[in-house]
Amino acid sequence: MAIERTFSIIKPDATRRNLTGAINAKIEASGLRIVAQKRVKWSKAEAEAFYGVHKARPFFNDLVGFMISGPIVVQVLEGENAVAKYRDVMGATNPANAAPGTIRKDFAESIEANSVHGSDSLENAGIEIGQNFKPAEIVG
Ligand code: CMP
Repeated sequence: MAIERTFSIIKPDATRRNLTGAINAKIEASGLRIVAQKRVKWSKAEAEAFYGVHKARPFFNDLVGFMISGPIVVQVLEGENAVAKYRDVMGATNPANAAPGTIRKDFAESIEANSVHGSDSLENAGIEIGQNFKPAEIVG
């Protein structure tokens, strides 16, 4: 299997409840390595740009408002099959459908306040990492 990198966000509902460490414990227990990390607060323009693919969705404005409601932790995760592996660790987008032991099953509050984001493809991982980190900020 190939070593990949994927992009991760710990969302405002999770930073507000002091869950950064608990979430990262699950990520590290899966074998993924956190090779870049920073805590930031996005502007409205940054959130709109990141979620631009969802612009036409009815939940877009709420999603942007939520993502700028508090600090987030953006990260790059590295490991074998990282994109699919992290999606398994996160669980389904809607926590009501998430499998036991996943981040979203254990911590998410709702489909919007779902504690974490992860890239949905290797191509999008590259784009999302590039939007959030300079190459020198990623230390494998
Ligand atoms: P994320 O992986 O960050 O990608 C897009 C986000 O939109 C998703 O997680 C959810 O938090 C949010 N989202 C997806 N579907 C809905 C929905 N039906 N209602 C509200 N938010 C949604």
